[in-house]
Amino acid sequence: MRKQFFILGFTLLIITALVYYYLKIGFLLLVILPILLVIGYYNSVQKKHAILRNFPVLGYARYLFELIAPEIQQYFIERSTDGKPFSRNERSLVYQRAKNIDSNTPFGTQLDLNQNHYEGIKHSIFPSVVNEDLPRVWVGGADCKQPYHASLLNISAMSFGSLSENAIMALNKGAQKGHFYHNTGEGGLTEFHLQGGDITWQIGTGYFGCRTAEGTFDAGKFSEKSNLPSVKMIEIKLSQGAKPGHGGVLPAAKNTEQIAKIRGVQPNITIFSPPSHSAFKDSKGLISFIKELRTLSNGKPIGFKLCIGDTAEFESLCIEMIAADCYPDFITVDGAEGGTGAAPLEFSDGVGMPFEPALIFVNKTLIAYKIRDKIRVIGSGKIISGYAVLRAIALGADLCNSARGFMFSLGCIQALRCHNNQCPTGVATQDKMLMKGLVVTDKFERVFHFHKNTLHAANELLAATGKTSFADMDISIFMRGDEFSHLSDLYFPDNLRKHTTLQ
Ligand SMILES: Cc1cc2nc3c(=O)[nH]c(=O)nc-3n(C[C@H](O)[C@H](O)[C@H](O)COP(=O)(O)O)c2cc1C
Repeated sequence: MRKQFFILGFTLLIITALVYYYLKIGFLLLVILPILLVIGYYNSVQKKHAILRNFPVLGYARYLFELIAPEIQQYFIERSTDGKPFSRNERSLVYQRAKNIDSNTPFGTQLDLNQNHYEGIKHSIFPSVVNEDLPRVWVGGADCKQPYHASLLNISAMSFGSLSENAIMALNKGAQKGHFYHNTGEGGLTEFHLQGGDITWQIGTGYFGCRTAEGTFDAGKFSEKSNLPSVKMIEIKLSQGAKPGHGGVLPAAKNTEQIAKIRGVQPNITIFSPPSHSAFKDSKGLISFIKELRTLSNGKPIGFKLCIGDTAEFESLCIEMIAADCYPDFITVDGAEGGTGAAPLEFSDGVGMPFEPALIFVNKTLIAYKIRDKIRVIGSGKIISGYAVLRAIALGADLCNSARGFMFSLGCIQALRCHNNQCPTGVATQDKMLMKGLVVTDKFERVFHFHKNTLHAANELLAATGKTSFADMDISIFMRGDEFSHLSDLYFPDNLRKHTTLQ
């Protein structure tokens, strides 16, 4: 194609020059064509991009379409129930709740309910009265001196670095207004987190914010920050659903001077946190570390976050806890479908247990080892609606976190640009110009309303089941499509007669 490009290019140039010479029209073309020929020449001799080498100017169309593919998909192709990871309907629900406008839908469901994967709640003939107070639960076991009264829905871990400073400030101010907690993520506790909202301070393998010059855990720095009044709980990050077994990734484009200074790393290079902790290597070590953090923080709730992988390892951890008679105050269970700012695809798509089986496993294992009453279970994995909150509680969580739900409340449009610093809504970028689009004074109200309206919807669903407390929820509250054939055996009239007095 190179040859054709130059033949066509020079022919056009000669024709344009002649037309301009005789008719005095086509001046612009006469300027543009030589520029295109120079670009074309450059591309045809460069060795990096095969497409541009073969199609010296047309090749750019491919890059353009690739760049706008998510937008084309979202605006022209996607249907209301499509869209990944979140459908248009799911995103709209969050936007409406965040804006505090009507979130009811017209005409009926768009889902095909007669499918095996349908899942619904068994409502009661006698619904209870909807509780107007938003549900809360205490976190803090026997060794905790400063238990925390947490909301049932909170902001999941997302670092400053992954999110912009405006996003962090809006989240924190929203958390303050709605009295729920804001998890810092592993990037450290910064001034942007200290806007008055309750904080769960997350400690990852990079120990950002409590890190020695060598990158190991610094007890002095930890003690200083963990004792700040805003810090209500501390979470040790073992793994996260989107990339279990892989450390955090801060792409070079987002590693600004400011962030590098906060994290104590070199700017403008990609920072990979190590996959494992240097402060401990096994279950015993983790339990000692929990003890140490509890002492250093003067008894604040200490927990850990993980995505379940090898179930036997989790069981051994339970056995170690019992042997040491030391328990975390909470365990956060993150599903493999969880989100991230940046992760290798192999890890996002192919490592770790999804939320539903993981939560059921953790809950049942803690019950089996008779330690469930000592530990709160926090669930995170696509919790963006009242239904998802109720479902998480029924499957075994005591409270929930949402990351991408709160991102949507800030205006995230699922542009899938968190990793390259080009987030168009200013949520997941460090580009000062883009983040200006996110106005903290407007968006914090949305964060507040999303939380409030979602929990209110959860309260309404609870009332529909006829129950009055989330503590009464369990897995039996659900029916699934694949049960219907089984149910029909049990309850259709012919069988009913066998089981009842209808004979
Ligand atoms: C932009 C972004 C950044 C994240 N950063 C962290 C992090 O620093 N630490 C962590 O444990 N999880 C992190 N997560 C994972 C979330 O906290 C959460 O566990 C996961 O996304 C599942 O929740 P979701 O489905 O509500 O998003 C991040 C997620 C996103 C989307």
